[in-house]
Amino acid sequence: MSSTIVIFGASGDLTSRKLVPALYQLFRKDRLTEPLRLVGFSRSEYSHDAWRSKLAASTQKFVGEKFDAEKWGEFSEQIYYHQGDIGESEDFQSLGKFLEEIEGGKGSNRLYYLSTAPRFYKLAIEHLGQSGLAEEGTGSRRVVIEKPFGNDLASAQELNRTTHCVFAEHQVYRIDHYLGKETVQNLMVLRFGNTIFEPIWNRNYIDHVQITVAEEVDVGTRAGYYDSAGIVRDMIQNHLLQLLMVTAMEAPVRYEADAIRNEKVKVLDAILPLTEDRVAEDTFRGQYRGYTASEGVESTSHTATFAGVKLLVDNWRWQGVPFYLRSGKAMSCRTTQIVIQFHSPPHKLFADSPSELGESNRLVIQVQPAEGIQMHFQTKVPDAGMRMRQTDLNFNYQKEFRGVMPEAYERLLLDALEGDASLFARADEVEAAWRICDPILEAWKKNDRPTLYMYDPGFWGPTECTEWMHGQGREWFDTCPLLG
Ligand code: BG6
Repeated sequence: MSSTIVIFGASGDLTSRKLVPALYQLFRKDRLTEPLRLVGFSRSEYSHDAWRSKLAASTQKFVGEKFDAEKWGEFSEQIYYHQGDIGESEDFQSLGKFLEEIEGGKGSNRLYYLSTAPRFYKLAIEHLGQSGLAEEGTGSRRVVIEKPFGNDLASAQELNRTTHCVFAEHQVYRIDHYLGKETVQNLMVLRFGNTIFEPIWNRNYIDHVQITVAEEVDVGTRAGYYDSAGIVRDMIQNHLLQLLMVTAMEAPVRYEADAIRNEKVKVLDAILPLTEDRVAEDTFRGQYRGYTASEGVESTSHTATFAGVKLLVDNWRWQGVPFYLRSGKAMSCRTTQIVIQFHSPPHKLFADSPSELGESNRLVIQVQPAEGIQMHFQTKVPDAGMRMRQTDLNFNYQKEFRGVMPEAYERLLLDALEGDASLFARADEVEAAWRICDPILEAWKKNDRPTLYMYDPGFWGPTECTEWMHGQGREWFDTCPLLG
């Protein structure tokens, strides 16, 4: 059966930068097994042709040399535009008529993609419900909801309630694009498609885990949004907790959406709640110098652009193994990496045996941009007595598989079209993630414990954060990946 994707908030940046390029790539690679129509819905005025031309230009820009004018021509025949306002229920009625027209009165599956400002999600869902557009008589009806899903636990619960009045949970696809990244999916393959890692993936061998998402860019033109969100809402509540879940989860009984998500939710449920005192001791916040000069930011803003958070997963496997999450804007380089730091050897047999934990075995999962995995271990330096040095085995995606890594949205859009929710967050999962972050947001708002430290752009966040980690007897793995 054919499918129709309706993008609400179609004139926004996400549509031209990510969604349409991803759909075009799926079409170009013949991954779409059934015919697909794409309908843009927003307040701006466009004819079908004007919208197609705008998208042709942006898609060419974002897919680069993979843009093939002839293929685009074929793809764009099924692109339409429907002008409308999310706040007007009549516009949903007319959208319904328009969809029936282009679907030729035959049944079609529909995917409603909410790419609007988050404050419109509720209204869009209610209007989809009231106008009958969520009814499944003539094909499946699914809704994709972009992040942020809520602003805190209470608003996420309310949005879940509204959503469930119109769509059943199996029709809801809450997106976190980190789950669409090849290397994040590969983390499950590394852990559950091999035998050598699982036996050592626990407190007996692992000292701690570090998850870093560092960005070189600052807030740029998004300061208006960012100042009310901050790093915890923007990155920790979603992307970093997703990486934590995939790192810490048990093997699901089947590779199937609910089996996977059951295991992920158990990880969040096992995380010890952060009390106010623990927020003061186990979280760290920073702001890069110059942030308050960004347009749309108050000169007195206390919004954190950097966070370090220590979480404890209180279960059998991870007892006593801290998970350190760290993310920031305006850092040294762009890198997302998961570091599994193993214990030091129990007995120092060689005079040169390393005394630092950081010299012990380490598995580094490079999520991006130098996608790959490195295993670090000590090696005898030849012809130098029993001197040792840390060396590594290096697996690099580019070298192994050539080709360009697909964009996360390709995989996610295809899965949503095919009804596979494995890489999407379930209602209880987003709520559990907010349950972890709410106490941090509350405490950071209320008092000055922990202090908001300033840092210079181009470094690994505040130097005090390095000291904080030293105070834990540990060291951040501050290494920019080698590209090329
Ligand atoms: C988004 C955040 O969800 O993820 C941005 O809102 C951030 O602030 C971005 O820059 C990072 O995504 P990626 O894929 O570039 O690591």
